[in-house]
Amino acid sequence: MAGDRFDPARPVPRHVAIILDGNGRWAQKRGLPRTAGHAAGSETFRRIATYCRDIGMDYLTVYAFSTENWKRSVEEVSAILGLLKKYLLEALEKMERDRIRLRFFGDLSRLPKELQGLAARTLETSARYDGFQANVCLNYGGRDEIVRAAREFARRCAAGQSRPEDLTENAFSGLLDSAGIPDPELIIRPGGELRQSNFLLWQAAYSEFYYTDVLWPDFTPAELERAIAAYNGRSRRFGGIP
Ligand code: IPE
Ligand code: IPE
Ligand code: MG
Repeated sequence: MAGDRFDPARPVPRHVAIILDGNGRWAQKRGLPRTAGHAAGSETFRRIATYCRDIGMDYLTVYAFSTENWKRSVEEVSAILGLLKKYLLEALEKMERDRIRLRFFGDLSRLPKELQGLAARTLETSARYDGFQANVCLNYGGRDEIVRAAREFARRCAAGQSRPEDLTENAFSGLLDSAGIPDPELIIRPGGELRQSNFLLWQAAYSEFYYTDVLWPDFTPAELERAIAAYNGRSRRFGGIP
């Protein structure tokens, strides 16, 4: 199925990022606990990641758990972390068949040790493959990512390995969680909210945004195609004149 939908008139962006929002409302609408929405959302992620791989995208970055999401109830946070564990165990087992490499953005040091170990194993296994990669943002905040990068640069200066004047935009990008990955051309937010919620603050400098009221568990490949079509209709000027 790979490359099935290749059409030079409708190019696929290399890197799409999605804010996985609306799980809780999806569940509430059905009289279910919020956690049922997260379970449904994780199934949607599987489907969409596979679809992205099949249409020839290089990177899909998803916002799964923010540095602010710890404010939720212990029950909800542990349900989300439990689903992540389940997802990673499956992804590890099926990576050879699925060809979906994984990488993580965010400060994983605050996650339970078991999940950290699982993430490390997933990274190791991913290194054996090439092709499509999904970046999963866990305990991720754009500001936190920038502060961690700035701290790392300061540490290198203090150790005499760098000088302040060595810092360029490119050098700084290389210190972020997304080091080596091109900025997302398109950022999609399902769930109806028109905000960035601390997602990819640095990398989104020139991303195109696409918002939809569809709640994440209801998100489909057709919806993704609508977003890509909208993206292909935009005039990206990067501050210049077309
Ligand atoms: C997104 O869905 C998942 C996470 C933030 C972890 P929400 O849980 O925010 O769902 P809504 O926005 O309350 O519907
Ligand atoms: C953004 O969704 C974070 C993730 C999807 C992981 P939220 O539901 O946390 O964002 P706000 O609170 O509506 O801004
Ligand atoms: Mg939300």
